[in-house]
Amino acid sequence: METTFDMFIETEVPEDELIVSRTDFSGKITYVNETFAEISGYRPEELIGKPHNVIRHPDMPKSAFADMWAMLKRGEVWEGYVKNLRKDKGYYWVYARMSTVIKDGKPVEYKSVREPVSREKKIEMQNLYDKMRAEEEGHTRVVLYVKNDALETLEKMEVDSQ
Ligand SMILES: Cc1cc2nc3c(=O)[nH]c(=O)nc-3n(C[C@H](O)[C@H](O)[C@H](O)COP(=O)(O)O)c2cc1C
Repeated sequence: METTFDMFIETEVPEDELIVSRTDFSGKITYVNETFAEISGYRPEELIGKPHNVIRHPDMPKSAFADMWAMLKRGEVWEGYVKNLRKDKGYYWVYARMSTVIKDGKPVEYKSVREPVSREKKIEMQNLYDKMRAEEEGHTRVVLYVKNDALETLEKMEVDSQ
């Protein structure tokens, strides 16, 4: 039996920078800051005009976004953990706060500001989202976490088994 092994590289989100995007009411991106572009692996001009789900990671359960949209449409603020997909298929975790931009008393856009997530919380949320997805989709996916210093051993195992 042949085993395939995909590696998805995590990008760490900096502590001291804001990751900002704005969308119209349909979720199309109208603005991203430089930090957002850098972390997602795109250039800002590649993102403007695209639906925000261009960075949707397949590990995110549908229900998380359903809650988010329901709250935004009621004018409420949604806060939560999001795993995002980079252009190079790597990923990054953020704690996101999404809300409505009000100008002259009227809602004009949606915006999101994000901050980094601790390693413990990422693992907890990955497990939770795996469970939620399994319930939504009726199947389970196994995710293996490998610490950087264990990679060398894995690489050696691969060489040895050839
Ligand atoms: C202001 C704002 C920011 C958003 N940011 C993200 C994000 O960072 N990652 C993401 O996957 N979806 C984000 N979304 C939700 C997407 O629009 C979309 O609903 C989600 O990716 C799920 O894709 P789907 O609606 O095609 O199922 C955001 C939406 C809004 C309004």
